[in-house]
Amino acid sequence: MTISTLATLESIALHGKRVLLRCDLNVPLKDGVITDDGRIRASIPTIKYLLAQGAAVVITAHLGRPKGERKPELSLSPVAIRLSELLGSKVIFSNEIVNSSQAKTVKSGEVVLLENIRYEAAETSKDEAERTTLAKELASYADVFISDGFGAVHRKHASVYDVAKLLPHAAGYLVAAEIEVLKKLTQSPERPYGVVLGGAKVSDKIGVISNLLDKVNVLAIGGGMLFTFLAAQGKEIGKSLVETDLIPTVKELLSRAEELGVKILLPTDIVVAPEFAADVKPTTVSADAIPSDQMGLDIGPETAASFAAAISECKTVFWNGPMGVFEFPNFANGTKVVAKALTSVSGISVVGGGDSAAAVRKLGFNDSEFGYISTGGGASLEYLEGKELPGIVALN
Ligand code: 3PG
Repeated sequence: MTISTLATLESIALHGKRVLLRCDLNVPLKDGVITDDGRIRASIPTIKYLLAQGAAVVITAHLGRPKGERKPELSLSPVAIRLSELLGSKVIFSNEIVNSSQAKTVKSGEVVLLENIRYEAAETSKDEAERTTLAKELASYADVFISDGFGAVHRKHASVYDVAKLLPHAAGYLVAAEIEVLKKLTQSPERPYGVVLGGAKVSDKIGVISNLLDKVNVLAIGGGMLFTFLAAQGKEIGKSLVETDLIPTVKELLSRAEELGVKILLPTDIVVAPEFAADVKPTTVSADAIPSDQMGLDIGPETAASFAAAISECKTVFWNGPMGVFEFPNFANGTKVVAKALTSVSGISVVGGGDSAAAVRKLGFNDSEFGYISTGGGASLEYLEGKELPGIVALN
């Protein structure tokens, strides 16, 4: 996609203004406890800047996909507490989204966080008029709109897209930084350029693989989606995850890659187990000989080493999606080895996506070991796919 210059925070007068700020605070929660606060931390610089400018800040964000229902487990209230800790100042939490008395009376130097915007069905509605009605409510709280929820800019939602049409607007620091990095990946990346893709579903990645084929030098495939590739090569994949309907598309991709001379790296060995569980016994087998009663849950050590070697030769690397079921220690090795290889890339290394970012932190890596950790999974993939991102288009 083409991105003209986005208006920056510095270009917009903020002193004494009421600002509506869209953040992506969609963090993983387990039993009400935040397990990775990366997206909250990534939102802090813009909020601090707005406060330092003497603005009054109303934040709108989503959590999960409540589909217009007030699901208590998807409340942003734990996020308000963590946000307040990280900011070192009070965050006023508003249960109301529409007609919020706290948002209406917010003062300079104060922060109000509105409850999960997706509790309002209009947020994600396909009907533009419905979305506009909600966007107008949000816009009524503010003089200026700042878009900083990068992880959601690929969504044509009221708080991401429609509201930008109603108020003077600019990109926050996070959105600006993310776009800057993605531009580096798409406009003359330093070569060799390698992309490592994992995760469960090929269907989520087909578009990006297809678009990247003539742009990258190496493409390594791991995660649950690798088995659809092995199946497309006619291999036995046992009980592994597969998207049978996509086998013909994957076959086409493989032959296009061959024509273009792009190296697609596929696993040569796989860690298998009889079932999907943390405590099952792992066995490493050849990718050509997965037993019919076993399922693949990680790439094997030989594959991990060959992916790592390919990564270390690259000057630009983008990685999205775990290589295996990293949540289970027995199947975390592939993801760990790939993450480690990314930390030693001499050029630019980008970890793309909320899940991948959470995975590397869970495995004990520090953000600072990578060139850049993107907060947006779907958003960064759609950018690399060459799609227009509504939340960015609206800012142009
Ligand atoms: C994400 O988790 O990638 C963003 O927060 C967007 O969430 P969504 O996929 O539910 O729109």
